[in-house]
Amino acid sequence: MTSLLPMPEKRIFSGIQPTGNLHLGNYLGAIRNWVTLQDDFESIYCVVDLHAITVAQDPQQLRQSTREVAASLIAAGISPERSVLFNQSSVPQHSQLAWVFNCIARLGWLNRMTQFKEKAGKNRENATVGLYSYPTLMAADILAYRATHVPVGEDQKQHLELTRDIAQGFNQTYGVEFFPLPEPQIFGSATRVMSLRDGNSKMSKSDASDNSRINMTDDADLIAQKIRKAKTDPDALPSESAGLEGRPEAQNLVGIFAALADSDVESVLSDFAGRGFGEFKPALAELAVAKLAPMGDRMRELLANPGDIDAVLADGALRAEEIAAPIIDQVNDIVGFLGAGSKSGPGS
Ligand code: TYM
Repeated sequence: MTSLLPMPEKRIFSGIQPTGNLHLGNYLGAIRNWVTLQDDFESIYCVVDLHAITVAQDPQQLRQSTREVAASLIAAGISPERSVLFNQSSVPQHSQLAWVFNCIARLGWLNRMTQFKEKAGKNRENATVGLYSYPTLMAADILAYRATHVPVGEDQKQHLELTRDIAQGFNQTYGVEFFPLPEPQIFGSATRVMSLRDGNSKMSKSDASDNSRINMTDDADLIAQKIRKAKTDPDALPSESAGLEGRPEAQNLVGIFAALADSDVESVLSDFAGRGFGEFKPALAELAVAKLAPMGDRMRELLANPGDIDAVLADGALRAEEIAAPIIDQVNDIVGFLGAGSKSGPGS
């Protein structure tokens, strides 16, 4: 085998599903951090349409959602020049590596994945094999670039632990130090944004109630209305975060405020201590509208020219493939696939 490609020092990869609207949880838990990181690191951001079809999708709707998510990312501040922005299915190396990883990951590892259990629900026999092996494709997304850091919300932590196990499993199986063990980057005051209707369940695209989430496409009136209707309790806000314990809705709204204000929970509480939600909610609504409504407007402007979005994604896919292709050639060579060596040098 030829010598291994040099390991990247710091390379960021993250992904987002094009299923339904992006919401405040996606923004505060992930996208906002992606925007910050792109200034200092090589960053690769992916709209994961292959993951989307692990559950049924209407093809026309999938195309539209892929464009919408790409437009939202650009509207939120992802620069298609500074970062690499593309859709997953355009870069075949993701699927190729996912197969190799399906032959590394163990049933026992996948059986532990809580997200599969939640998504498959009671009718597990009817879930697709794709939904079950979803995390091996996710590992392939990250490792096709040998990414070292992965900014995500807290709900992806278990998938990233599995990614590290797969990287290590590959390295051990083949006796190479080829894949890095990627580090999750979970930071900010809103790593797990909860539903506006129930402080114990996660804000999510799949919640039947649209009032449970703030979508990045909501206009100013709708954002304000959803915050007004958000579930709360009758007590005033405490002066310290310990006083939020056992008050999940209050904790969630204060966390959202802190994240939107680029502040922290303690300083928000020192400003609002002793005041009730009658005062806090209008302040939160004003802040949310100021931060989010311009992004929604910009996204709608971008969507007026879908051809431009497609061109951005196509360009991103070419740049992504330039990085992934030599890595996957080398993986094929390490594994022992004949023909792989013709691209990365003769195998041993
Ligand atoms: P997805 O599309 O569900 O969510 C995209 C990002 O948003 C974060 N997020 C949240 N953060 C805080 N509070 C919430 N309520 C909330 N809801 C979502 C997620 O943690 C995520 O960072 N499996 C991934 C997509 C993926 C991926 C990858 C991510 C595919 N390949 C490779 C990282 C690296 C997912 O379904 O994210």
